[in-house]
Amino acid sequence: APHLDTESMHEHVVIRRGVRSGLPIVVAVHSTALGQAIGGCRVAQYPHWRDGLTDALRLSAAMSDKCALAGLPNGGGKTVVALPPGRTLDTAARRAVLHDAGDAIAGLDGAYATGPDVGTGPDDMVTIAERTPHAFCRPVHAGGSGDSSGHTAVGVLAALHALCAERFGSADLSARSFAVLGLGRVGGHVLRMLADAGATLVAADIDEGRRMLADTAGAAWTSPQDCLTAAVDVLVPAALGGLLTPHTVPTLRCAAIAGPANNQLDTPATADLLHQHGILWAPDIIVSAGGIIHATAVELHRETSAQATARVHGIADTLTDILRTARATGSTPAAAARSRARHHIENGRR
Ligand code: PHE
Repeated sequence: APHLDTESMHEHVVIRRGVRSGLPIVVAVHSTALGQAIGGCRVAQYPHWRDGLTDALRLSAAMSDKCALAGLPNGGGKTVVALPPGRTLDTAARRAVLHDAGDAIAGLDGAYATGPDVGTGPDDMVTIAERTPHAFCRPVHAGGSGDSSGHTAVGVLAALHALCAERFGSADLSARSFAVLGLGRVGGHVLRMLADAGATLVAADIDEGRRMLADTAGAAWTSPQDCLTAAVDVLVPAALGGLLTPHTVPTLRCAAIAGPANNQLDTPATADLLHQHGILWAPDIIVSAGGIIHATAVELHRETSAQATARVHGIADTLTDILRTARATGSTPAAAARSRARHHIENGRR
């Protein structure tokens, strides 16, 4: 008989029209099996608020696996504020919607804590914290662990070392070429760090204003389309998700992919397609965990920033392990990562 698969279903989802802002707020708590659910607050434009809901459901589920693979005693959640196409927020509207989000999070009584994500930063966490204590990454002067983007970038670099060692037999980044797609908070840091490591670089962003960042890093500036299909050793997706699809994969000319963008695959099956094309894909849920690893180590476990940074470097070992397991078992890194995460979550539940 047909049955609903409630195994991977979300524990709790709040969808509401903000009382102050009138804007749609979604807070998705996927799992608290390992502990408090965590995940950032995304403020972005969507064709329809239902698309924001779909994004929140997918992003929060990925956060559960991200936390499990990072060895954190946390589950996955996400907040999405869905802006209508073309809508931007002035200071007052921004405060209103962040307070609306803060109230929705407060109503969850600590089951979920938020943090920065696409479209939000440390100052926004201060505004949310006016309504709920459950907000990571407030600025250091305001009692938080500060901007997480630099720590996420440190984790990406650790992952790139591990990936290059596995794929090219050497972790030396100066011998490799990279295409960095997206120069936002995290992508900008990653580009600079790769330049410091002596790597050969191509970069792109939909915002022409970020070209300066590429010039400073000595990176060749291209269109996002040309960056995606550049003939480089490694593609580094650092913009929005969903860029790896049955349509784009056959056009890729890179040998490996690792970047901080969340939900890079349009569907899980695209991991198999990458494998068939001989492209080694480092699961985004491993590569992008530096921010949450640092923030939780400092804010929940009272570690120093140096201790937390040492944990972020652990991403290299986690990725190496997954890539080797995948090779040994003839599966994809995506499948190996997913099964490792499931295993942790099941053990935690027991
Ligand atoms: N954007 C971060 C992520 O998706 C969210 C986050 C950072 C949440 C730090 C909590 C603490 O991983």
